[in-house]
Amino acid sequence: MNQNIKHIPVMTEEIIESLKIQENGIYIDSTFGMGGHSIEILKKLGKKGKLYAIDKDLNSVLIGNKIQDQRFCIIHDTFSNILNYAKSKQIVGKVDGILFDLGVSSLQIEDYQRGFSFKKNGPLDMRMNQNCGITASDWIFKSDIKKIICVLKNFGEERFAKKIAYAIKNYNKRKKITETLELVNIIKRSIPIKNIFKHPARRTFQAIRIYINQELEEIKNALKDTLKILKPGGRIIVISFHSLEDRIIKKFMIKNSVKEIIPYGMPITEKEIEKLKICKLKIINRLFPSFEEIKKNPRARSSILRTAELK
Ligand SMILES: C[S@@+](CC[C@H](N)C(=O)[O-])C[C@H]1O[C@@H](n2cnc3c(N)ncnc32)[C@H](O)[C@@H]1O
Repeated sequence: MNQNIKHIPVMTEEIIESLKIQENGIYIDSTFGMGGHSIEILKKLGKKGKLYAIDKDLNSVLIGNKIQDQRFCIIHDTFSNILNYAKSKQIVGKVDGILFDLGVSSLQIEDYQRGFSFKKNGPLDMRMNQNCGITASDWIFKSDIKKIICVLKNFGEERFAKKIAYAIKNYNKRKKITETLELVNIIKRSIPIKNIFKHPARRTFQAIRIYINQELEEIKNALKDTLKILKPGGRIIVISFHSLEDRIIKKFMIKNSVKEIIPYGMPITEKEIEKLKICKLKIINRLFPSFEEIKKNPRARSSILRTAELK
């Protein structure tokens, strides 16, 4: 792990404000990363407050383990297991706030040995948890053209998905792609490069990363469970970095904040009707980073923060 890498946390002030931190409250940071947000939460917590953190990247957990604070603990796990974590800590229905700061941390993107970056060469891995799952290199090698096109389109919204997939598979006939810049060069050779501001491999790397780490499934599953873990008045805060994630969060918050419309004459009992009518969430805000923040931290550029509160 490169000790010199720094991660500038995104929209910290807005997060702290949206979390409405209670002195002795219980909080979960589901995406510890390099701990930027966790540290700020701890500063606001009183002596009896608690902060539970999660990260699926072992390097992040190693950073978290260095925090000597009895109000804090961290586990190495995926946040789709958040309910089990909450059960093990006996905090189901007691939590005041849950934070998700999605995507990759600087620790991952700037360590070229992890394979997330299209800027410098490294092994084509892309797994957030290197103890399990398949590497990007193996996945590309094993997948057929159809599957690669589907991933590039669905998770990268890549216009040239077909061209890139064919170029990859042609290359695979001679050699397995094992390094990041090998993949970048294949992409560069296979598509017209017009937009000099956007790297031609950006969408492909995003798509493969999302697929390899099952990022969209993870967030869908975890969001559902937050409704069981929070206490009434507790808040969910999610920062997303692209429209695919944001769509899921927006849909989840809207779905759970709108009363179901029950069609007239539907054969269900009064009790069932009452259950359906309950809307569990109140949408609090949707925030974007300030110009000042984007100037200081260009990574914040595409972030959107959404907050909802359990009723
Ligand atoms: C954007 S960074 C978080 C940065 C952090 N807020 C900070 O201030 O340093 C996202 C982190 O979430 C972790 N992560 C992403 N998906 C995860 C998942 N499904 N379960 C657990 N951790 C996840 C990544 O490993 C990464 O460390």
